[in-house]
Amino acid sequence: MIMLKISELTIATTNETLVKDVTLSVASGEWVALVGESGSGKSLTALTIGGLLSGQVKVESGSITFGDRDLISMKRKELSRLLGKEISYVFQDYNSAFTPFLSVGKQIDEVLRTHTKWSRHERLGIALNALKDVKLQESVYRSYPCQLSGGQLQRVAIATSMMLSPSLLIADEPTTALDSITAHHVLELLSKLANEANCGVLFITHDLRHVKKYATRIAVMKDGQIVETGTKEKIFTNPQHPYTKSLLKAIPKLNDHRTRLIGLEKEVSW
Ligand SMILES: Nc1ncnc2c1ncn2[C@@H]1O[C@H](COP(=O)(O)OP(=O)(O)OP(=O)(O)O)[C@@H](O)[C@H]1O
Ligand SMILES: [Mg+2]
Repeated sequence: MIMLKISELTIATTNETLVKDVTLSVASGEWVALVGESGSGKSLTALTIGGLLSGQVKVESGSITFGDRDLISMKRKELSRLLGKEISYVFQDYNSAFTPFLSVGKQIDEVLRTHTKWSRHERLGIALNALKDVKLQESVYRSYPCQLSGGQLQRVAIATSMMLSPSLLIADEPTTALDSITAHHVLELLSKLANEANCGVLFITHDLRHVKKYATRIAVMKDGQIVETGTKEKIFTNPQHPYTKSLLKAIPKLNDHRTRLIGLEKEVSW
């Protein structure tokens, strides 16, 4: 079932078109990887879904539907009821996802209070369970963001975005700020939780090894446009667009000496 449908989306400032005629869909349980060079419009596309564009950047034309609801014309209040519940985000910059002076638990609880009518006791149970799901100890609930490592904070962010079983997760470079082993573990957890919730994932990344491992479909963006889309198998084995071909050439070889060394560090760094 198609969860998210973006049709001919054009995003522009008063004097520049930044994203042009983007058409993209995400079905339940599907991982769609959105890849492409820096500045190609991936984040703008992702932000538009949740009505999160800022400054002079505006939707010029096109539509975005979530189920049968039109997100572009949706009132802010209604959209904010969806965000964090049915549609969740995980960003690269986990630090900005948290307020420094509130405990992690308070911040998770705030999301639960906003979206549910559960009692304090029920909310605590859900929050601790969510932390357990991402392999964090209960003590993290009482910690402040500065007391946690980047990998731990990103796991809290994932726990928070997945605890209400969203139908769509938008993950914009969720592991770019993490070392490669931590990134691997974080993505494994994310993929497990998304699978369990049958959640559709829009996964933005520069790491094609992650695309190869998790994506079901791939959309390739360049200069604000989608130049190629297809199943993972099709894109990896038979890319059509010259830009896709050059992207695929840049994948580090899996038996690369550095990758093997990182593998050896696995036990110590986690
Ligand atoms: N608020 C803004 N005002 C004006 N231009 C912007 C704004 N935000 C982004 N842009 C421009 O829009 C283009 C697309 O930006 P976007 O952040 O979507 O790229 P991206 O594909 O996510 O890149 P990266 O891989 O580096 O994250 C860029 O040229 C960027 O400079
Ligand atoms: Mg981006």
